[in-house]
Amino acid sequence: MITLGIETSCDETAVAVLEEGFQIRSNLIARQEHLHERFGGVVPEVAARAHVEALNPLLADALERSGCGFDDLDGVAVTTGPGLVGALLVGMAAAKALALATRAPLIGVNHLEGHYWANFLEHGPPDPPYVALIVSGGHTMLVHVPELFRHVVLGQTLDDAAGEAFDKVARLLGLGFPGGPALDAAARTGDPHAVRFPRAMEGSGDLDFSLSGLKTAVLRYVRAEQAAGRAIDVPDLAASFQEAIVDVQVSKTIAAAERTGVRTVLLGGGVVANTRLRERLTIDGEAKGLRVLYPPPELCTDNAAMIACVGAARLARGERTSLDIPADPNLQLAT
Ligand code: KG4
Ligand code: ZN
Repeated sequence: MITLGIETSCDETAVAVLEEGFQIRSNLIARQEHLHERFGGVVPEVAARAHVEALNPLLADALERSGCGFDDLDGVAVTTGPGLVGALLVGMAAAKALALATRAPLIGVNHLEGHYWANFLEHGPPDPPYVALIVSGGHTMLVHVPELFRHVVLGQTLDDAAGEAFDKVARLLGLGFPGGPALDAAARTGDPHAVRFPRAMEGSGDLDFSLSGLKTAVLRYVRAEQAAGRAIDVPDLAASFQEAIVDVQVSKTIAAAERTGVRTVLLGGGVVANTRLRERLTIDGEAKGLRVLYPPPELCTDNAAMIACVGAARLARGERTSLDIPADPNLQLAT
């Protein structure tokens, strides 16, 4: 069974071809960071136009590298939300046209489900139940997955997403866009205990997050240091900020697993590429007897293989998506 996946929910144009649901035959990404860098964030209109330009050549390339032609497709999976509506529509129009032309069934996929399914590429899903921590540029949430395709959202951010906080603080420190990877690199030589930033909601007793206060605390610290004529130690500041985020993510993820009695924790989303988050969750999780799984860094950030992986599994259980499905920028995880 050959499944084509298309992902255009934000600023990455991505196409993948999977065999038997989870083996990657090709997985290509056209990045557009350079187009958004000077704005300090993704500009929706610019993203949609760039998808239009990138998608067709990328589709041709992904098929060629996979050794498949249009006639070999058994299914076409596409992200239908959440994301930027104009960006989503580009991928969806292409997927619908392909499904119509090849008669392969269309399957719409939730981007967030894709993020934790990135763990299942290569080997397929381990036995549920799981707790999934999904942390990206747009989301920060803990989800209980009692069985495949069933989700109970346990908690989420009340304001900024973790990736957004990484990007904003990186910008403040002059590290460029997207800032997460640069901040991660800068933090490697810094002291995570140099500055004590607030761990918002760490002891709140629920599984929600709040990140906007941390960002403001970093801004206030930088302004105060500058006003006092002291130079900012970027690695120390990056490491201290990162540690504050990671502390809360780790303690809430472990609390979520304990509350639900789940032993397998799946991590997904761009922020899971973060070295310190992976390291701390593995060490602290394993100390509590949890199995912590995360995808390789290149499958943490947006890609189409994860979308094709969910799509193939949903097609295999008989699901089909109608060709008139709309894009849904606020799509929720199905319960
Ligand atoms: O999942 P993703 O590619 O796109 C969304 O669905 O939002 O996540 C992108 C986010 C960006 O905010 C980026 O800065 C962050 O993931 N990110 C990281 C790292 N790599 C990417 N954050 C921290 N450390 C990293 N190594
Ligand atoms: Zn994403």
